[in-house]
Amino acid sequence: MLEVNKIVEMIEDDKTTQKDYENIKLPDFMKALVTLKEEENFFEGMQIEDKDISKTLHYKEVPLPKVEEDEVLVAVMASGINHNTVWSATFEPLSTFNFLSYYAKLNPKNKKHNLDYHILGSDAAGVIVQIGKTVNHNWKVGDRVVIYPGVISNINPQGYNDSLTDPDTKAWGYETNFGGLAQFCLVKSSQLMKKPEHLSWEEAASLSLVSSTAYRMLVSHHGAQIRQGDNVLIWGGAGGLGAIGIQYVLNGGGIPIVVVSSEEKAQLVKKLGCEFVFNRANKNFNFFKENGTFNERHLIAFKSTIERLINKESIDVVYEHTGKETFAASVFVAKRGGKIVTCGSTTGYEHFYDNRYLWMHVKSIIGSHGANIFEAYNANRLSCLGKIHPILSEVFTLKDSIKGCIKVKNNQHVGKIGILCLSPKEGLGIKNNELREKIGENKINIFRKQII
Ligand SMILES: NC(=O)c1ccc[n+]([C@@H]2O[C@H](COP(=O)([O-])OP(=O)(O)OC[C@H]3O[C@@H](n4cnc5c(N)ncnc54)[C@H](OP(=O)(O)O)[C@@H]3O)[C@@H](O)[C@H]2O)c1
Repeated sequence: MLEVNKIVEMIEDDKTTQKDYENIKLPDFMKALVTLKEEENFFEGMQIEDKDISKTLHYKEVPLPKVEEDEVLVAVMASGINHNTVWSATFEPLSTFNFLSYYAKLNPKNKKHNLDYHILGSDAAGVIVQIGKTVNHNWKVGDRVVIYPGVISNINPQGYNDSLTDPDTKAWGYETNFGGLAQFCLVKSSQLMKKPEHLSWEEAASLSLVSSTAYRMLVSHHGAQIRQGDNVLIWGGAGGLGAIGIQYVLNGGGIPIVVVSSEEKAQLVKKLGCEFVFNRANKNFNFFKENGTFNERHLIAFKSTIERLINKESIDVVYEHTGKETFAASVFVAKRGGKIVTCGSTTGYEHFYDNRYLWMHVKSIIGSHGANIFEAYNANRLSCLGKIHPILSEVFTLKDSIKGCIKVKNNQHVGKIGILCLSPKEGLGIKNNELREKIGENKINIFRKQII
């Protein structure tokens, strides 16, 4: 039997002991989803919508990464697709091979990341199979984990205040190599978090990145710090970040006002508990005229549509990640003193907005990126307690993962797309059936098999 099949059998067998894991025989090679350095100029001169990422993503056999003193090798049972995999495959806004060569220069130990292939993926759930000599004793082989997608340097003093302010903090599987879209991934011990045991491998793997990002944006003092009763406008409510953001707003006693682009998506976010939903497909707001100047009429109409929806109340916080096409409206729609918290730019990173509405109405824009370890730990704790639920809609095998990436690029998915890496089928890895039953399959599976 192949070594990887034996490992999967061990993971699924409750009788496997730590000693068995210590004696594990690891393969020399593994399968992974990669981009290639030789193709980094493949799309030169093309618009993003014309870039066919099936040409630049490859399911390939690569050597198993070597574990250094402070690192851990995880057998990846499942992973998930994030938008950063799309950015990597389009080489936008720049080639991630630049990140790898920069990362290699930070520390001689990082040199191995600078390869001519990049193993992508910033989420994973699996089992520790090899552990470096200096990894703290909290972790051992056989532990079932999910991965925090921040790689912390532990060198720069500012990182000890908030690791996101450390210039050397990197996004794992995007700015570093050996990510989660593979049969095995390489992480620092500081990236390890307990797997929520009432969830399957693919459900657990779908949460860490979006949930920790949403936690920082909405709950943390580094973000908008929402209060009970706050009206929070959520763009892309049926997308990965949006659907998790809705849960945080509802958990915190806030009121989500959710924008989506179809009736099916509207129904879906209502199932999450949203009362106020705006289907942008019904009113074709365009916040810019053809000549690129602001379309004041549409900005005003959008604001009054949203405020009418919430009975003439106003928006305290805008949850932004959609970027260029929406940012002017986000700044405009927030109330005086309101906050716009942003972590991305799906429709373009050059944002234009009318600054008068920002400074004269004393609003603030908060930049947010991922989460620090403490925020990620808090977010994962909420998943473990069954207070934040997965929003997994579809699952592909690692071999077919490119199909999932294409769906995310084309906005043809809802929630999150899961990827089975070593796990031979869906639904494995659940240990805490009692909590699962208490929560109910309906809550855990709201987004499953939704057809747009
Ligand atoms: N910095 C970070 O740490 C971090 C972490 C996670 C994600 N992000 C970024 O956040 C963004 C969203 O990530 P995601 O995982 O939620 O992606 P996603 O699942 O693809 O969701 C994006 C949503 O954006 C909405 N959208 C697309 N075009 C739009 C437009 N023109 N106007 C209004 N809404 C539009 C879509 O909703 P409708 O079509 O239904 O309106 C879609 O559901 C990405 O750019 C990602 O890179 C950043």
